Amino acid sequence: MKPNYYINTTDMIKIVTYYFLFVSVQIFAKDYDAIIQNYKTKINVAIENSNNYTVDVDATRYKPKSNDITEFGEFNYIVIGAGTTGAVVANGLSEQTHKKVLVLEAGKGSDISTDVPLLVYQAQLSDFNWGFHSTPQKNGCLGMKNQACPCPRGRGVGGTSLINGMIYSRANPKDFDRLARDVRNSAWSYSNVLRYFKKGENFTHTNPAAPYAPCYHGKKGYLNVENLNIDNPRSEAFVRAHLELGFKKTDYNSLNELGVSLIQSTIKGGKRADTGTTFILPIKNRKNLMVSMESYVVKIEIHPKTKIAKSVLFSRHGTLYRAKAKNEIILSAGAFQSPQILQLSGVGRKMDLSKFNIPVISELDVGRNLKDQNSIFLSITHNTTDPDIDLNSALKDFVHGRGILTTSNFEGVSFYDSKHKNYPDIELFLIPFAKSPIPNLNNKVVNYTDATLKDLSAGNAKTFSILATDLDPKSLGSVTLKSNSPFDYPLVDPNVLSNPADLEMLYKIIQFTRKIVKTEAFKKINATLLVPKLKACEKYKLDSKGYWYCNFRQLNHPSYHPLGTCAMGKDPKKGAVVDSKLRVFGVKKLRVADASVFPFNLRSHLVANCVLVGQIVSDFIKKVNF
Ligand SMILES: Cc1cc2nc3c(=O)[nH]c(=O)nc-3n(C[C@H](O)[C@H](O)[C@H](O)COP(=O)(O)OP(=O)(O)OC[C@H]3O[C@@H](n4cnc5c(N)ncnc54)[C@H](O)[C@@H]3O)c2cc1C
Ligand SMILES: *[C@@H]1O[C@H](CO)[C@@H](O)[C@H](O)[C@H]1NC(C)=O
Ligand SMILES: *[C@@H]1O[C@H](CO)[C@@H](O)[C@H](O)[C@H]1NC(C)=O
Ligand SMILES: *[C@@H]1O[C@H](CO)[C@@H](O)[C@H](O)[C@H]1NC(C)=O
Ligand SMILES: *[C@@H]1O[C@H](CO)[C@@H](O)[C@H](O)[C@H]1NC(C)=O
Ligand SMILES: *[C@@H]1O[C@H](CO)[C@@H](O)[C@H](O)[C@H]1NC(C)=O
Repeated sequence: MKPNYYINTTDMIKIVTYYFLFVSVQIFAKDYDAIIQNYKTKINVAIENSNNYTVDVDATRYKPKSNDITEFGEFNYIVIGAGTTGAVVANGLSEQTHKKVLVLEAGKGSDISTDVPLLVYQAQLSDFNWGFHSTPQKNGCLGMKNQACPCPRGRGVGGTSLINGMIYSRANPKDFDRLARDVRNSAWSYSNVLRYFKKGENFTHTNPAAPYAPCYHGKKGYLNVENLNIDNPRSEAFVRAHLELGFKKTDYNSLNELGVSLIQSTIKGGKRADTGTTFILPIKNRKNLMVSMESYVVKIEIHPKTKIAKSVLFSRHGTLYRAKAKNEIILSAGAFQSPQILQLSGVGRKMDLSKFNIPVISELDVGRNLKDQNSIFLSITHNTTDPDIDLNSALKDFVHGRGILTTSNFEGVSFYDSKHKNYPDIELFLIPFAKSPIPNLNNKVVNYTDATLKDLSAGNAKTFSILATDLDPKSLGSVTLKSNSPFDYPLVDPNVLSNPADLEMLYKIIQFTRKIVKTEAFKKINATLLVPKLKACEKYKLDSKGYWYCNFRQLNHPSYHPLGTCAMGKDPKKGAVVDSKLRVFGVKKLRVADASVFPFNLRSHLVANCVLVGQIVSDFIKKVNF
């Protein structure tokens, strides 16, 4: 007997749906293969290029063929640098549809090496990094080639957010209240900036294990923030160890920064959410916005009598151009190049400028007060194992926004207050340096000497790292001109570890890290703090205080969080370069907006705070130009 069957309408719909699903899955599968193949090719190119990448020593690539000036036209606003902050400023100002905004950026748009989070070191060893090095140091960075500290800085639409570690971290509420008090402007108070943080952010809580305080986060802003899907014995031990010592789990971007957490990251669907991708890409069709890439600014023209900033000279593809600004010029070239451009334009210390016959238009402490944090990598031996993942399987996950390629090499973070003032001074950071299909090139970026590398690789133990940071070292550095040529790199002198208090603090941090490593949680993974035998320190007893001081001078370097070089403040006679609305003292229609305006070390990383500066300055400007 034949089964007597018929198809009812519901079944019919099901069959048709399944059929189409089946076909579309086939199509998708095909597309994914092509996408994966494309990624694979590009990733391999990025890896190859990073292996033999040589960093620039100056900016001669931008030299124009002649000094004749071609007029580029007039705009309401000119933003110099489409970096972390500049991109936000460009977005904010071009909301005024009747105002023309020109953005001048020396670099290009993002690509695969910046989009794939785990290619972070490949991005740092590419043209996306200016490749600055400090001047030879006397007290620190002694284990690095030429005794020079690494000073990576991003170049391109998105700036340093194209090459950074992607941790999303706002300054401590007390930082803002302190700033508001110092500059006498409540715009910078925590209650005010919290509104901006929430407005600018699109937070997605992608990992339930990560602490999350919803009322401190926004969901409608441009900047995507997600948790990384971290779940391994190492990060578990890191969190548990802190809990054992009495730390609380915390959303470190809430009112309470102190505690331990898995990190929040500037990532969208597994890809880097730099500020070019998040603040410029969605608005690229605004008719009043022009982003001119490969455009290197050489000078801001300020009228010597009226002191009005009128125009900007920049070089593009061999031609020197002048763009005029009707309303304002906003300098967002970052903590090294904003002071450089100001000095080249006649704003700086007389003694710094007269050396190079640059007439002084406004005498200010530009480039002084360079501050940064201090970081030391501590290696922890352990007995956990990471799964072997090859590039193909990693890519299969990546196209679905998952897996190792979507991670940035940072897992856990804690903020600690050794002085019990409810104001953190130490940060620990869990860095897996785990097995991965992408080579880890941190040592190449830091540029250790061969002797140091040999000492560091001795024993070849399996380790992960805790990056221990002094959030507020006392040493002060500077950024000055090397010559009056804009095509020379500036002289960056962090003067690292010049204040002995900074050595003492790092030593304190070692003791603290040791406590973490000695917890039951870390014992379970057989963790020990590895004390590297450095030849340069062999005259000290290993692990003694004298040894560690020597170790710090060899291996410690600034944390890549430079600021303070165009400091905000009340009084230009006391070092302030810009006022509380970021206007340059003694010059009209010129503001600085980037990390260089923060006068003191923040208890955090910097991207979130730079985005904030971009939002706030846009509002300052729009209030007086409408
Ligand atoms: C390796 C590294 C890792 C970091 N990790 C983190 C992290 O995980 N989380 C975090 O919050 N912070 C991190 N930071 C710090 C943070 O990324 C920076 O402090 C921040 O992005 C700086 O933003 P900015 O706007 O001041 O300058 P930038 O983003 O550097 O912008 C300056 C822009 O100006 C352009 N420019 C400069 N000179 C000229 C010129 N003459 N003409 C035209 N254009 C010019 C540059 O190309 C650049 O695009 C990291 C930094 C580094 C280097
Ligand atoms: C870098 O190396 C790759 C091969 O590994 C080669 O194709 C490329 O041309 C090299 N680039 C430079 C600038 O030498
Ligand atoms: C390392 O330092 C040397 C010597 O100063 C320099 O030539 C080289 O470009 C540096 N490399 C990197 C990757 O910074
Ligand atoms: C916020 O991010 C989520 C997840 O990436 C996305 O679906 C949503 O559209 C974003 N919202 C805005 C306003 O961009
Ligand atoms: C723990 O680590 C030590 C070295 O630090 C090693 O000798 C020992 O075998 C390890 N034990 C286990 C159980 O892995
Ligand atoms: C790691 O070491 C700890 C402590 O020595 C031990 O209890 C544990 O079984 C070890 N784990 C593995 C996977 O070897």
